[in-house]
Amino acid sequence: MKGKLFFGTQTGTTEAVAEQIQKELADLVSECRNIYGVKKEELEEADLLVLGGSTWGDGELTDDFQDSLHILEAANLNGKAVALFALGDQYGYGYNFVSAMKIVYDTVKKCGARVIGSGVSRAGFDFEHSESLQDDTFLGLVLDEVNQPELTEKRIKEWVSTVRQELAQTGLTSVG
Ligand SMILES: Cc1cc2nc3c(=O)[nH]c(=O)nc-3n(C[C@H](O)[C@H](O)[C@H](O)COP(=O)(O)O)c2cc1C
Repeated sequence: MKGKLFFGTQTGTTEAVAEQIQKELADLVSECRNIYGVKKEELEEADLLVLGGSTWGDGELTDDFQDSLHILEAANLNGKAVALFALGDQYGYGYNFVSAMKIVYDTVKKCGARVIGSGVSRAGFDFEHSESLQDDTFLGLVLDEVNQPELTEKRIKEWVSTVRQELAQTGLTSVG
């Protein structure tokens, strides 16, 4: 099982969080780095991709992720498990909270990936709108380092546990 984590960030917040996520998945995820400059082959050789970043502008991807999106679009992700995470600011940008995660979700689905770690509860968040909701649950892990940094560790651990269970159910790996 080969897992890799790629992230986008504008001011570095996501990088620290990405490292925390990798730590929790250390036995499965061997690499954690910025998505900028990623090669199609690097994406395709992984069995598990953990992809995440913050939302900027008005529901947009960060510049590094946006610049790499065409590489992701061109990748064949058939049979791959992809887990998504997102950072945003629910009070400052509650009209478009973590909306960029939906752009990544739509892209990897088109590439044939199986998204795991979705169905995350919105309980504990307070916002008006997010593109990243489906059936009123989030498409992946959502973190708000601006307003709720004290909840980040717990949210990561709970989500990682779900990701592990879903991987185990599909026989990709055992529950750690
Ligand atoms: C100019 C600007 C635009 C932003 N736009 C959004 C947004 O549309 N939705 C959202 O949830 N957060 C938004 N944010 C909040 C960031 O996503 C949040 O601060 C995040 O933690 C930044 O992570 P990063 O340093 O990894 O980029 C915005 C922040 C700034 C400064």
